[in-house]
Amino acid sequence: MKKIEKVNVRDIVKKHGAPVYVYSLNKLRESINEVKDLAPVVRYAMKACSNVTVLKEMLNNGIKIDAVSVFECQRAKRAGFKSKDICFTSDVFFNADEPEYCLKNNIYVNCGSLGMLEEYGKACKKRGKKSHPVSIRINPGEGAGHSKKTNTGGPYSKHGIWHQNLSQAKSIAKKYGLRINGVHTHIGSGGDLNHLKRITGKLVEFAKEFKDVEIVNFGGGLPYQYDVEKPQEDISKYKPILEKRIQILEKHFGRKIECEIEPGRRFVAGCGYLLGEVRSLNHTFDKKGKRLDYVLTNVGFCHLLRPMAYGSYHPIWFEGKKLGRKQDLIVAGPVCESGDVLTQENEEPVARKLPKPSPGDIIVIGGAGAYGYAMSSNYNTQPLLPEVIVEGNKLTLSRRRQNLNDMLREEV
Ligand SMILES: Cc1ncc(COP(=O)(O)O)c(C=O)c1O
Repeated sequence: MKKIEKVNVRDIVKKHGAPVYVYSLNKLRESINEVKDLAPVVRYAMKACSNVTVLKEMLNNGIKIDAVSVFECQRAKRAGFKSKDICFTSDVFFNADEPEYCLKNNIYVNCGSLGMLEEYGKACKKRGKKSHPVSIRINPGEGAGHSKKTNTGGPYSKHGIWHQNLSQAKSIAKKYGLRINGVHTHIGSGGDLNHLKRITGKLVEFAKEFKDVEIVNFGGGLPYQYDVEKPQEDISKYKPILEKRIQILEKHFGRKIECEIEPGRRFVAGCGYLLGEVRSLNHTFDKKGKRLDYVLTNVGFCHLLRPMAYGSYHPIWFEGKKLGRKQDLIVAGPVCESGDVLTQENEEPVARKLPKPSPGDIIVIGGAGAYGYAMSSNYNTQPLLPEVIVEGNKLTLSRRRQNLNDMLREEV
C-alpha cells in the first residue's frame, strides 16, 4: 500500500516518524454512513478509538456516545457531546465517584450488575431522586465474539445481570424508587449477525418484563471482516431485524419504544492504519531443519495488542523501493516476548506469504482503527504513538508522540 487517501505513506513517516497511527477521514465517513441509519439511535462505543477528530466526526453525524468511564464521559464532552447524548455503561461496577458524577451531570446510567444497580439506587436516594430512570444490562445466558476474551455473554462472562435474576433487579429498583426504563444487552465484540439476530429476539422477551421500558439498546458487536481479500460483512440486514423487534415491543406496550445500538469496531476498524519501519531480518530453523524467516519491525504489542492478545489477523503491506518475491514470513516487533508477533492465528505465530522487505522499508498494518491506539501501552517504556488524520491530500497531526518527560511525569 503506497498511499492512504492521497498521501504517500513514506511522506507520513518522514513527517511524523514511525510507528504512527493514521486515520483516513473519508474511510471513517464511509463506515459512519453504513452504520448510522441502522437504528433510530446509534451510539459510538468510544472505547474502540477515542481520538478527538473521530469523536467530532461522530458528533457531526448525529451519533451519540456509549462511555465506560467518567473519563470517557469527560472526553466526549470535550469533543462537544452534551450530557444527554451520553450513556454510561461501566461494565459491572462503579468506581467510587461515578454515580455522583452521572447524577450531577444528568448522564443516563446502564447498570451491569445487581451490585451496581444497588449502588446507583443508594446514590439516587441520597440525592432525593424519585422515580429516577435507569437502564439495566442483561446477560442473556449466551454470547459471541471473535475470541473467548471478547465474548461478554453466558455463564463465564462477568457482564450483565443474569437473565434469571431479573426479579431481583426489579426488587432493588423498587427499594430505591428507581424506574427501569431501559434494557440493554451486549453479547460480545466481533460476533456475527446470526448471533445478534437471536439475542435481539431474547432481549425483546426480557424487555416485556419491565412495564416502564422506553429504551431498548441492542449493544454493539457488529461484524467486521479484517481480511481485505474477503468480502466485507454486509450489515444492512441488521436494520429490518431491529425494526421487527421494536414493532413487537411497541405492539406489546402500546407506545413508542426507542431502539438503540452501540457499535465501536465497525465504525473505526477500517479507517485506521499503523505505519512502522522494518528494522532487521532474522531466521531460525525448526526441528526438521525448515527455515523460518522473521521480519523485525518497530511495531510491537505495546502499540497494537490485538494479535498478541487474541491472535487477531491484520492485513500487512510493505512499502519499499525493491521488495523481494513473496515468501513465508513471520512479522515481529521489538518487545521482549516471543508472543510479540503481528502474524498470528489461533494465538500462535504463523508465517504469512508476503513480499520480502529490507531494513528501512515501511510496514503498513490495516484494520488498526478499533482497539488499536486505545489498547496501546508504555510497556518496555515505549512512548504512546502519535495519531495523524488524512483527508484527501491533507495530513493533520491529531495527537503528538509521547516523550520521556510525559512518561516520567507521574513518578514521585
Ligand atoms: C458495553 C459495550 N458496548 C459496545 C461495545 C462495542 O463493541 P464492538 O466494538 O464490537 O461493536 C463494547 C465492546 O466490547 C461494550 O463493552
